[in-house]
Amino acid sequence: MNNIETLKFLEPDEIPHLVEKYGTPLFVYDLPTIKKHYDYFCQIPNPYGLTVRYSVKANPTRAILAQFNKLGASFDVSSVWEARRCINAGIDANKILITAQEISEGWETLCKAGMEFDAGSLQQLKTYGEKFPNTQVSIRINPGFGSGLVKKLTSGGNHSSFGLWFEQFDEAITLAKHYSLTIKRVHLHIGSGHDSAVLEKTVNRALELCAKVPSVTHLNLGGGYKITALNSDPHYDHHAMGSRVSASLEQFQRETGRKLHLEVEPGTFSMALSGSLITRVIDVVNTGDNGYRFIKIDGGLTEIMRPSYYGALHPLVVVKHDGTLETNDIDEQMVCGHCCIAGDSLTPVAGNTEDFTPVLLARAEINDYLVVERTGGYAASMSVKNFNSYPEAAEVCRVSKGAYHIIRERQTLEQMTQNERDLPLI
Ligand SMILES: Cc1ncc(COP(=O)(O)O)c(C=O)c1O
Repeated sequence: MNNIETLKFLEPDEIPHLVEKYGTPLFVYDLPTIKKHYDYFCQIPNPYGLTVRYSVKANPTRAILAQFNKLGASFDVSSVWEARRCINAGIDANKILITAQEISEGWETLCKAGMEFDAGSLQQLKTYGEKFPNTQVSIRINPGFGSGLVKKLTSGGNHSSFGLWFEQFDEAITLAKHYSLTIKRVHLHIGSGHDSAVLEKTVNRALELCAKVPSVTHLNLGGGYKITALNSDPHYDHHAMGSRVSASLEQFQRETGRKLHLEVEPGTFSMALSGSLITRVIDVVNTGDNGYRFIKIDGGLTEIMRPSYYGALHPLVVVKHDGTLETNDIDEQMVCGHCCIAGDSLTPVAGNTEDFTPVLLARAEINDYLVVERTGGYAASMSVKNFNSYPEAAEVCRVSKGAYHIIRERQTLEQMTQNERDLPLI
């Protein structure tokens, strides 16, 4: 019995059909899976109300945003640009909370329209207070410690610039008073792929800060909830986490008489397993008796940089050219992308951005397909766009087997170069 990965929602015989119709590389997002994951988060135990904000950075394509809007989600954005994409998707500004490293030009217009502002530093609080005195504001804190899949994804702790350092909270209270701001929400996001025990510890620290400010009505825990992507990944029970956080909120209520509304911002959990990247095997090479067998695919860093950037492992599934799965002819193989850079590998050593290692896969031949799973979030939105001038891949939504809608066309060369201007040759 081998332990090779399997397809998440696609059926193997859909793949040749999808490729024929839309080409490769191709992102396919599954609407029933999106809905299932969103519903799971809506059922997180909470004693005094819950808001689920879809974290737009995971996947900001308009049709995806509109889908979350239809499901009833609120939104977490990381820039005014993400906020504008929400507005363009028909989302009301008052469903958006901005938590950004950069407060770019035009942010005031969005706040006037109803977007809520989450200050991540004393300077951001000052900027907001000067423009919008006598209004409500949120404060993102860095609780002093965090947790994430890798350090690059850990946004709590003294190595991270995200959020107001918790020891500066009193200064923030003074600054808020200066501008007659009401602090409505305390927000934290300790990292993506965090350990929930660490999150629960930070909740206690956040509640100590909430206790100091009677106007706080909302506690936002950010995102970062782990998912079961690989066969070797454990199952994570986020409802159990919700129950434990609820107990802390109830304790807080007994001590202060205040009922805090809970907010969560799942990005990965909402989208990662709702998307698959279909690629075509374009070459198979080997590096001799002491080397490896390499499968080269027509996608890579240009669609998914997580393996190279974090050493993140994605489930990889070979589908034969005729749309069947091979379960007997299994081999250890490396998978590399189409970019002309040695680091374009999809088989890193876990958590290591320098080394590669083969994985067990059905033996692939040229013109077979390789499906990269866990690519609904932080893939299309975070790839090395247009490196080697490969066009951005197309994106398709799957309603059910056989029912697909294109939601982003494959980029053309004209679109890739449309902002370039000639230089008079001297
Ligand atoms: C403030 C905030 N909220 C939510 C998220 C979403 O995290 P994840 O996609 O890991 O759930 C992030 C990710 O960086 C974030 O910075």
